[in-house]
Amino acid sequence: MTTPLFDSVPGFDQPIAVLKHCHDKIRKQLTTLQNLLGHLAQHGNTDDARQAAQAVLKYFDKAAHLHHDDEEQDLMPMLQATATGADAALLATLVPEILADHQRMDQAWLTLRPELDAIAAGTGTQLSAEGVASYVAAYQAHMSKEEGQLAPMAKRLFSAQQMEQLGTAMQRRRGIAPEAAAAPAPAPTSAVPVHDAASLAAMRIDYVQRLLSEQDVQRDPIAQFETWFDEALKAQVSEPNAMGLSTVSADGKPSSRIVLIKQFDERGFTWYTNYHSDKGRQLEQNPHAALLFFWRELERQVRIEGTVVKTTAAESDEYFNVRPVQSRLSAIASQQSAPIANRAALESNYEAVAAAIGDAPPPRPEHWGGYRLQPERIEFWQGRRSRFHDRIVYTRGADGQWSMQRLQP
Ligand SMILES: Cc1cc2nc3c(=O)[nH]c(=O)nc-3n(C[C@H](O)[C@H](O)[C@H](O)COP(=O)(O)O)c2cc1C
Repeated sequence: MTTPLFDSVPGFDQPIAVLKHCHDKIRKQLTTLQNLLGHLAQHGNTDDARQAAQAVLKYFDKAAHLHHDDEEQDLMPMLQATATGADAALLATLVPEILADHQRMDQAWLTLRPELDAIAAGTGTQLSAEGVASYVAAYQAHMSKEEGQLAPMAKRLFSAQQMEQLGTAMQRRRGIAPEAAAAPAPAPTSAVPVHDAASLAAMRIDYVQRLLSEQDVQRDPIAQFETWFDEALKAQVSEPNAMGLSTVSADGKPSSRIVLIKQFDERGFTWYTNYHSDKGRQLEQNPHAALLFFWRELERQVRIEGTVVKTTAAESDEYFNVRPVQSRLSAIASQQSAPIANRAALESNYEAVAAAIGDAPPPRPEHWGGYRLQPERIEFWQGRRSRFHDRIVYTRGADGQWSMQRLQP
């Protein structure tokens, strides 16, 4: 065998070589992490240290988990489906070990990550030598196990078709469209759905950023919500105040829509709307409702359930009067949820209202105001690897006290 002239990047038609290439990249990042430790001790947090921390964070936050998923969701299940005899016996011990390694490495990463975040932001200089050593050692042992046992077994057992299947799954995971080999192009027809079942089934994002433990959360779910809401603001989550509101009609039919939270405190979660709208009529007949926040950038969901009351007229006035004049005129002009012939009719209603009110401050219509959901159940959900998420739910007892419980994902 001759040594290649240069170090080329393998293609997905050699998926096992791609996995090995990932290991090489992981090894480089682990070396950077170790160098960073020495650099901080000698020079403190310099530009180089910040760049090194950013590179390590980028790799282990964004790329490393794809590699774990390749193994957990494709390579190992395919091997388990193929192996027999001694190979099957080896997998029976190896697969649980590898899964446990992944969990351990994730856990170790979550300890290092806040320190690296602070170094990358230029606000910290602490990096735990023990944390780095155990993370590096765990990864190194794990990679040699995979290179020494899993990879050779796959090379020995997989057919060309299985290699192709593995490579295709790995490409999809990275959002790369697999090359359409020699397959004939499908005939263009308007009846072909844009998202076929296979491509929807392959859409899968693994959640890896954080964990949620009983020790971290606060005893009061409103305080816990406040912490998460602040973190959503800091993380510049898109529209962190937008929430799903589900109501149920008198005959038991649910409906959902987005509204904006305008206040929250011990009394509950408040939004503003038209009391004569569909949601208003449903709440009149059935005050039970649910709110839902999804903060994608933090891989978090909060579910809130309870009964809804109207805010006082004074509270509604206070909020109405700080809205921009055009929004106040819109609230007066729109019979929310009622049908109208066309956009022109809607705008002519607005013009009529604006002309009638003139320069006076637009008064709040009686049918426009706030609703406050008084929570009875609040669940905090943190996405975790391989759908093994963290869920902590708070339930309010008859005595008004909150109790906390972990739920299975
Ligand atoms: C991001 C976003 C924010 C919204 N905020 C509100 C709101 O605060 N209040 C409201 O009445 N409608 C809001 N809407 C419109 C509602 O989703 C919905 O269309 C409207 O309230 C009528 O719902 P209904 O017919 O079920 O009563 C918002 C929509 C979006 C997409």
